[in-house]
Amino acid sequence: MRQPLVAGNWKMNGDNASTESLVNGIISGRDDVTNAEVLICPPYILIPRAASVLERRGAANIAIGAQDLDINANGAYTGQISASMLKDAGCSYVIIGHSERRSIYGESDADVAEKFKVAQAGGLIPVVCVGETLAEREANETESVVARQLDAVIDAAGVEALADSVIAYEPVWAIGTGMTATPEQAQDVHAFIRNRIAGLNADVAAGVRILYGGSMKPDNAESLIGMADIDGGLIGGASLDAESFLGICKAAN
Ligand code: 13P
Repeated sequence: MRQPLVAGNWKMNGDNASTESLVNGIISGRDDVTNAEVLICPPYILIPRAASVLERRGAANIAIGAQDLDINANGAYTGQISASMLKDAGCSYVIIGHSERRSIYGESDADVAEKFKVAQAGGLIPVVCVGETLAEREANETESVVARQLDAVIDAAGVEALADSVIAYEPVWAIGTGMTATPEQAQDVHAFIRNRIAGLNADVAAGVRILYGGSMKPDNAESLIGMADIDGGLIGGASLDAESFLGICKAAN
């Protein structure tokens, strides 16, 4: 049985004051969510503030993740943040290969695979994002794109490494657009991902959590997460409001 996971990707939003109130707000409803794991991924600079609120409130049942990391351990890499720094700041997860990193910052499949390995070596659980653009979907390339992105990680890290990871299917056309994938559209791709992994290792495929991301909201979360191969959500916009994030957490529950 896979435990549902609801992860909030705050992207480049917030400040110390909003972090304080958002984390406090999530804590106030967290105890109603008994079956799902809850994860927040603030911008780097707000991670310490989020961690300190959680510690002050004794809320060990909310995990913290980062949105990216550098592949190097330390040294002359101006502006970068390493896995050990994230661990030290209280992170247990890190998002890898978000489509915004791929498209805006030019991260390749090989870069993402390297980050996946570095995250795991540093004791972090990677949340590896895959997904097709609208043009790719319209060209019937959804499966080939997702397969290519997934295989890059499997080829670099080995299929067994997926056991200690989370996969997030985020169709690029659904991110921040309000154009949520239908439960059936999402389920088709989730099943494709799981079957592809099952072809290499059935146990890993059965255990790995595959999240859906892309305009997930409280009112569509239940129908999405209710699908057989959808194990939770990676939430952007709706994770910036405690009530809507908790609404999704409760749907996953
Ligand atoms: P939205 O929920 O804002 O569509 O963002 C999804 C996403 O990119 C999460 O990583």
